[in-house]
Amino acid sequence: MSSSQSKIAKYALLQKQVRALFDGEPDPIANQANFLAAIQEQFKFHWIGFYWVKDSQLVLGPFQGPVACTRIPFHAGVCGHAYTTQSTVIVKNVHEFKGHIACSSLSQSEIVIPIRNRLGNIVGVLDVDSEFLNFFQSEDQDGLESLVKILESALTI
Ligand code: SME
Repeated sequence: MSSSQSKIAKYALLQKQVRALFDGEPDPIANQANFLAAIQEQFKFHWIGFYWVKDSQLVLGPFQGPVACTRIPFHAGVCGHAYTTQSTVIVKNVHEFKGHIACSSLSQSEIVIPIRNRLGNIVGVLDVDSEFLNFFQSEDQDGLESLVKILESALTI
């Protein structure tokens, strides 16, 4: 099985697992925690977590990985770029991204996915860092965006 096929299979499994984890559980913190834990069981990313829109900026939420910056202005970093462009951002090499915020020196590539409420407004982002250059491909974008959609429904935001 190719790396791409392996990723696709893992994301398909995660969709079923995450739906089951959310079933009957209304607490947003519990669901965010299990969402991240399930993904980490499959991928063991260097860092994965949430930044939520609060106080007119992005504020750190639940995450797994090294300690991280707690607040990101809307105009800053990869997370801020995903927020302002209202689209998923894939960074093949974080060292080539102007304004990248390095919470860990081990981070080499990154993907950030906007999280929307029922009105379509961006209320946060899912941020994922890899220790490998150019790790995130289209199958990762498709897989993670699908998982974010399941989370959006569960959060009833
Ligand atoms: N790299 C992010 C900041 C968050 S840390 O990676 C957890 C950015 O540039 O927005």
